[in-house]
Amino acid sequence: MTGQRRWLLPERDEFLLCPTPENWLEQAVSQQETLLIDHANCEKKAAATAINLMFRYTENTDLQNRMSRLAREELRHFEQVLALLQKRNIPYRPLSASGYAGKMRAQVRTHEPERMIDTLVVGAFIEARSCERFEALAPLLDEELKKFYLSLLKSEARHFQDYLTLAMEAAGYDLADRIAVFAQADRQAVEGKDEELRFHSGVVH
Ligand SMILES: [Fe+2]
Ligand SMILES: [Fe+2]
Repeated sequence: MTGQRRWLLPERDEFLLCPTPENWLEQAVSQQETLLIDHANCEKKAAATAINLMFRYTENTDLQNRMSRLAREELRHFEQVLALLQKRNIPYRPLSASGYAGKMRAQVRTHEPERMIDTLVVGAFIEARSCERFEALAPLLDEELKKFYLSLLKSEARHFQDYLTLAMEAAGYDLADRIAVFAQADRQAVEGKDEELRFHSGVVH
């Protein structure tokens, strides 16, 4: 058989080892301006990450297609957040990044094709965690933000599947061991303490 193999993708909530802590949700609701600015940055960074992967792995046609589409969607999300910032008179000021992606990337192996496989698994975790946080936050927000976050859920869930499918195709095996490594790193980041509240941060103490 040539072409596509079908992989059994885990559901988001069995992929993530823990839900977002209640304390983080409370802090996020009380710092919505910071959260929106960081959200804008996250969308921009998600597009840049996808484009970087396209430059690094030119020969992978499936990756080229999926990442190109994903990058366009992330930029569209960015424009939607930017419009919300303007509408709410929130200045788009520089904001330091959260440590989440760095903590995840610290576990990425340095040789190919392991580097690509792990980078794709990290992408899957970032998307899955975003999806979980949008869903958890939505009922706590005003109607406009609630509607917006719920509208983002579907694409982030698809992005999670895109990344994981690409990782499994590249590896040729089910990746349970690697998923377990990054699942631990995600849990530690999410349940750990942080200095500043960000979309992917832990709870601020
Ligand atoms: Fe997005
Ligand atoms: Fe996404």
